[in-house]
Amino acid sequence: MSDDPGLTIDETTLVLGIETSCDETAVALVLGGYDVVSSVVSTQVDLHADFGGVVPEIASRAHLDLLNPVIARSIVEAGVDEQRIDAVACTVGPGLIGALLVGVSAAKALSLAWEVPFVGVNHMEAHLYAASLEDPTLEFPLLVMLVSGGHTMMIEMQDHGRYRLVGQTIDDAAGEAFDKVARFLDLGYPGGPAIDAAALSGDAEAIRFPRAMLDDGDNFSFSGLKTSVVNYVRKHPDVSSADVAASFQAAVVDVLVTKARRAAKAVGATGIVLGGGVAANSLLREQLLGACEEDGIQGFLPSRSMCTDNAAMIAAAGWHRLRSDGPTPLDVGATPNLRLDFI
Ligand code: KG4
Ligand code: ZN
Repeated sequence: MSDDPGLTIDETTLVLGIETSCDETAVALVLGGYDVVSSVVSTQVDLHADFGGVVPEIASRAHLDLLNPVIARSIVEAGVDEQRIDAVACTVGPGLIGALLVGVSAAKALSLAWEVPFVGVNHMEAHLYAASLEDPTLEFPLLVMLVSGGHTMMIEMQDHGRYRLVGQTIDDAAGEAFDKVARFLDLGYPGGPAIDAAALSGDAEAIRFPRAMLDDGDNFSFSGLKTSVVNYVRKHPDVSSADVAASFQAAVVDVLVTKARRAAKAVGATGIVLGGGVAANSLLREQLLGACEEDGIQGFLPSRSMCTDNAAMIAAAGWHRLRSDGPTPLDVGATPNLRLDFI
């Protein structure tokens, strides 16, 4: 397919997506914006675990080692010839600059070598598309709750590419709170899944942690909750970690679900979409689905593997961007603090 602006993007368009913004090296092939033909994610969690967080230099080096084999594997798993690929999409931000550059350089090189369009994707926008990969029947307006390691946002998605910011965290992101509390409790890294697992054997009502700003607008605050956990554990050194994990998780989920529900009503949303790594949380999924059922709206929960960083969502978002805006010029760079465009 030639890199011409009149290019038709339709259900037969096969997009290869590349994601290297943080600590997952991921490549996927998605047909027509929705149909995941292959999705390979190589996580670097083990490489960063000893440090209790992502080390940028280690992440970029690992992406360099892993990206070519992951690209090759995604093509083999898809069972297609590389000449069948119509476009290459890649995360251009936000993320770690050294990590982003590995993916962006590879994507541009492939676009030149295969003579297909390149499309730069905003990682946050891609998280918004993760749910639609598994349920293409989404009807606008939607209330998207985007909860990851770096962001906590409620977004009204009025149409493809048309977003209004409803609320966001004024301090820590929800995932960051999970990671910090898990580290404090020595539950391991990454913190979200560790707290989720520990909470299963704990009592969520053991400790009543504060629900900051619960009845106060659409913004969030999680740093006070983390401090409350630390203070409580220092005062009660014999408390069970499972009870603390369960009570902390219940406080976060209570705030997220209460606010999402209220915002969905205010915007007249047909449903609530969860996105971002924290959307993998068992309690959040259960409570959000229950709330949507009660309110008679849809609850769209991507599978856990689609909530955390992956390249299928990049290819899907790339397909939509390609359709609306056409290819991205090859002189575009990686932007570590790239923002979503809000109306
Ligand atoms: O979206 P993501 O994979 O990367 C970013 O773009 O940030 O999100 C990672 C975040 C981490 O903070 C991780 O602890 C959290 O998502 N997370 C979870 C769970 N799985 C991942 N938080 C709560 N419960 C989980 N099951
Ligand atoms: Zn992410």
